[in-house]
Amino acid sequence: MTASPAYQSGFGNEFASEALPGALPVGMNSPQQVPFGLYAEQFSGTAFTVPRSEARRTWMYRIRPSAAHPRFERLERQITGTALGPVTPNRLRWNSFVTPEEPTDFVDGLLCMAANAEAEACSGVSLYAYRANLSMRRVFFNADGELLIVPQAGRLRLVTELGVLELEPLEIAVIPRGMRLRVELLEAEAAGYVAENHGAALRLPDLGPIGSNGLANARDFLTPVAHFEDVEGPVQLVQKFLGELWATQLDHSPLDVVAWHGNNVPYKYDLRRFNTIGSISYDHPDPSIFTVLTSPSDTHGMANMDFVIFPPRWMVAESTFRPPWFHRNLMNEFMGLIQGVYDAKADGFVPGGASLHNCMSAHGPDNATTVQAIAADLKPHKIDKTMAFMFETGRVLRPSRFALDCPQLQGDYDSCWSGMQKTFDPSQEQ
Ligand SMILES: [Fe+2]
Repeated sequence: MTASPAYQSGFGNEFASEALPGALPVGMNSPQQVPFGLYAEQFSGTAFTVPRSEARRTWMYRIRPSAAHPRFERLERQITGTALGPVTPNRLRWNSFVTPEEPTDFVDGLLCMAANAEAEACSGVSLYAYRANLSMRRVFFNADGELLIVPQAGRLRLVTELGVLELEPLEIAVIPRGMRLRVELLEAEAAGYVAENHGAALRLPDLGPIGSNGLANARDFLTPVAHFEDVEGPVQLVQKFLGELWATQLDHSPLDVVAWHGNNVPYKYDLRRFNTIGSISYDHPDPSIFTVLTSPSDTHGMANMDFVIFPPRWMVAESTFRPPWFHRNLMNEFMGLIQGVYDAKADGFVPGGASLHNCMSAHGPDNATTVQAIAADLKPHKIDKTMAFMFETGRVLRPSRFALDCPQLQGDYDSCWSGMQKTFDPSQEQ
């Protein structure tokens, strides 16, 4: 039995941790001789000269420098679905994906569903589902972006360069661009979603008039403490670079960081800690009120990507059509369901499934939900045992060829709105 990992709390802090007391240099980042014969290495997540509030970097004190590796070779097996499909303005929805029968680790289990950027872009996202039944025996890093991992089933153990994060459904983790990790399964199978953020690093949204507390609170974000492997022997190191997988063979584990300090760190967050704020008078607020993390774009106020959740909450708005209203938006919405039922859909949107509503596509509650919501005798009621989420992004998402061809794509999604009755009656008494 492995002991539960320890964490440090906060968001964007200058964290520090050492697995061996005295391993972290004091006062200097790169002393001539690092304690215990370690090597110093800087890991930068931003250009050196960005404003201080944007800067992310971590100093690592490791058994071997990362530079000690042979040449990378392109892997035969690449990530499923990186080729984008033909353009479609249609609304799309998928059933949940089945776990493959052949041994499949986290990297091989990634299914690219949609993207709105080339891998080398400094903005945009690529969105994946994952299905795995095997712990990674190799180590992976992604040169193309930050990874937001959203488990839907199966607990994970993420062994990163900076320490260990254990993750279960209803928790999320964020891994900085380039950080090495090994994804281990703590159950027989694992499934979920990944957003690969090519743009500015995710951060907490500003709170405006909400004030200094609320939504996701900084103290609930957990970063690991230092944990290292002093392991000799062959370890495959895989990287994703410009959308392709490349591998090299190391003679040691690259997860060998004994001490570190900095703010370019992996972290996790329990979605059940989200302080959900909503209407206590009338109307259904915009879903931006449910933003957990945001990656800003160059256009002020317009996200490169927002990660938004729809958690359990009380519905009390008076005289209000309480489900999410019908809408056509500029922003593009990829949704998934972790558990339960989403309040805009009576059926068809299932845990592990997904939907895509792109720019200006008309959508909203399905017919059954609409009829019920208009007729409802409104009392305070709690939407419970549910957790849907949305990756909302400013640029149109192109579904992958895989996503358009897979059997999970629902052929009849449009029909959930087809029974909308004309209820207009100009003679109706008001
Ligand atoms: Fe929507």
